[in-house]
Amino acid sequence: MRISAALLLTLPVLLRAQHDQSATPKPNPAIKDPVAIAAGAKLYNQSCGGCHGPDGVGGRGPNLVRQLQSHQLKDDELFAAIRNGVPGTDMPPTSLSDDDTWKLTAYIRALTGPASDSRVPGDPVAGESLYWGEKAGCGGCHAILGKGSRMGPDLSNIGGSRPLAYIRQAIVPAKNDPSRNFALYGKEGVTVTLKNGKIVKGIARNRSNYSLQVVDTKGELHLIQMADVKALAVLNHSLMPEDYDTRLTATELRDLLAYLAKQSIRPASDNAKEDSK
Ligand code: HEC
Ligand code: HEC
Repeated sequence: MRISAALLLTLPVLLRAQHDQSATPKPNPAIKDPVAIAAGAKLYNQSCGGCHGPDGVGGRGPNLVRQLQSHQLKDDELFAAIRNGVPGTDMPPTSLSDDDTWKLTAYIRALTGPASDSRVPGDPVAGESLYWGEKAGCGGCHAILGKGSRMGPDLSNIGGSRPLAYIRQAIVPAKNDPSRNFALYGKEGVTVTLKNGKIVKGIARNRSNYSLQVVDTKGELHLIQMADVKALAVLNHSLMPEDYDTRLTATELRDLLAYLAKQSIRPASDNAKEDSK
């Protein structure tokens, strides 16, 4: 009895010790701590917002929310970038304490990590009816879990994959945000005039010299041979309506964001890990 109890106690310890060798270092306690994140937000507004803009939307410096989507930094790399700056660029080093640098790191993490990881204010139920209703009309272009149109990107995992600030900026972009155009890559709006006079408007996918696919506003896929095309106009702006900043009230936008932040599907690899435990 005594022996088996001792075994039960040591076994998990042994397993954990083995696990630690391969695992990445423990996250700093500031990461995901709401108090540290709030303190980091203050520091950000004092020292960083002048270049990176409120909410990381960019200005003199790059849009951090978008930049860190394509180029993920680990916590310690983010810490180092904040402390040392980026040599050879306008990004200056800082002389903040370790503690404050971790608070800033925690804030940038929350700002650029998946929305489903943060506490988002607002009423998701009200947001859901806005999403599917006529006033916002999001479902007319974006599907969630198989419902809605396939024309725009599927939003079933938008909260699980994108930061809150990214989603907000997609709906109400900062004026003259140059990085917005990069988000369009591969999702350009096109107007195709066919030789038979037919006009197809939508999003171009898999465009090559010989053919292209266009998903029109009803979500229907058109396979078009370039030999049949009379004229092809590529829009240099988004097909997303650009008037949501006036069409929606601040409360409506908040509720919509609360709904979208909850849209999260755990990636298959996560589930597989769970299963093998
Ligand atoms: C004087 C303008 C300026 C200030 C102030 C500034 N930055 Fe930057 N920051 C930049 C520029 C420019 C870059 C892009 C550097 C490059 O080209 O890689 C950058 C890049 C970054 C990056 C991305 C680094 C990478 O490797 O991708 C992070 C994170 C960042 N800044 C955070 C901060 C934080 C936090 C603060 C406040 C302590 C801050 N910045 C203050 C101009 C600034
Ligand atoms: C007329 C069609 C249309 C409507 C209506 C529309 N969108 Fe979009 N949306 C798009 C298209 C097309 C894109 C692809 C990128 C772009 O054009 O900016 C997009 C991009 C997005 C993105 C970025 C997705 C990503 O993974 O990068 C989000 C988030 C988004 N829309 C949310 C919404 C919400 C919320 C609404 C309702 C308030 C809405 N959209 C209404 C067409 C639409």
